[in-house]
Amino acid sequence: MRATRSLPLALTMTFALTACGGSALSGDGGDGGGDDGSVKIALLVPQSGVYAPLGKDMEAGFRLFLEENEDQLGGKDVELTVVDEGAGPEDGVPAGTKLAQDDSVDAVVGVVNSATALGLTDAFDEAKKPLIIANAGADSITGEESSKYVWRTSFSNGEVGGAIGKHVAEEVGDGKVYLVGPDYAAGEEFLAGFKKSFEGAGGQVAGTQMTPFGKTTNFQPYLQKVRNAKPKAVFAFYAGSEAVTFVKQYDKLGLHDEIPFYGTGFLTEGGALKAQGKSAEGIFTSLHYSSALDNETNTDFVAAYEEGNEVPPTTYSVQAYDAGQVLDGALEEGTSGDDIVAGLKDTGEIDSPRGPWSFSDNQGPDQTYYLRKVEQQDGAWTNAVEDELTQPSS
Ligand code: BEZ
Repeated sequence: MRATRSLPLALTMTFALTACGGSALSGDGGDGGGDDGSVKIALLVPQSGVYAPLGKDMEAGFRLFLEENEDQLGGKDVELTVVDEGAGPEDGVPAGTKLAQDDSVDAVVGVVNSATALGLTDAFDEAKKPLIIANAGADSITGEESSKYVWRTSFSNGEVGGAIGKHVAEEVGDGKVYLVGPDYAAGEEFLAGFKKSFEGAGGQVAGTQMTPFGKTTNFQPYLQKVRNAKPKAVFAFYAGSEAVTFVKQYDKLGLHDEIPFYGTGFLTEGGALKAQGKSAEGIFTSLHYSSALDNETNTDFVAAYEEGNEVPPTTYSVQAYDAGQVLDGALEEGTSGDDIVAGLKDTGEIDSPRGPWSFSDNQGPDQTYYLRKVEQQDGAWTNAVEDELTQPSS
């Protein structure tokens, strides 16, 4: 097993890739990798819709890895194209399918939305082109039926929800918990993963509400139903601008003082937490990263990222940074889809800011999940790491 190569984080922040929203960043396409020693990578991330902030963080994370590696992956010059995933699958599936079918693109990194990822796997499988998913957590993507061309550096939805279920069951005792999330694949799977481990540990669900994804700006009618059910706690998945609105309205209705609030870590991540401020104080979440993690790799990563971006990194930045790490190793094998897949199979332990992880047989990360609590430290809101969470056995 080959360990991935990672140059010192603070190496250089200065090489120039000029952003030009949604179009090629350098070069003009070409014949795909190999012949001239270069490789063409497309980054498919949202630049619009409720998940646009996540796309920005992912682009920053991937660029940081390139900057630290002299704009190369596997010793080959990288030609990077950034393509808009849009607000949902109606935009993301056609955009991703075009990249799968574009012979000049060697591999695609990104995809935030689970529904988009589910709509893209067949196109990448048919094109025999690697898709490195750096966020979308749809459970089946790295399940038994997964394509050998689709890999993931992020998480699977059921695992993130499942990681905190037992902890919440122990905290609430014989009280009931209310579940809330957006009505698409990810919302359903995060809540299902939580419910399975929560009920497995003796917990009881008071009720579930799924809110229309990407359209809901007034959560008050849903929150009123939550209050009426008198649960002992609430568990929620939201991300991006929906997370900001949900958490602020939860607080504004006075629920924050009445009902303890748990969620997946996306609820209080990065720019969302900054916008939520005090309204998020005390929320407990599960995730595989916090910028507050105390390890040497993360300390260096946070410093390098903050230097270039003036904000702390997020889990989205790390997932994309690690996509750079795994592709760097895999592209040493060559640039055809099968070469890259052979290289990915050979990936050793990744020295990641989230802590060491490696690919499991299902082509997704085998990693640690953390219990985080929103606290104010040195004047800034942060996800303090409280503990490691044990994954329930399925
Ligand atoms: C998803 O659709 O898989 C997803 C979106 C945002 C954050 C986490 C997961």
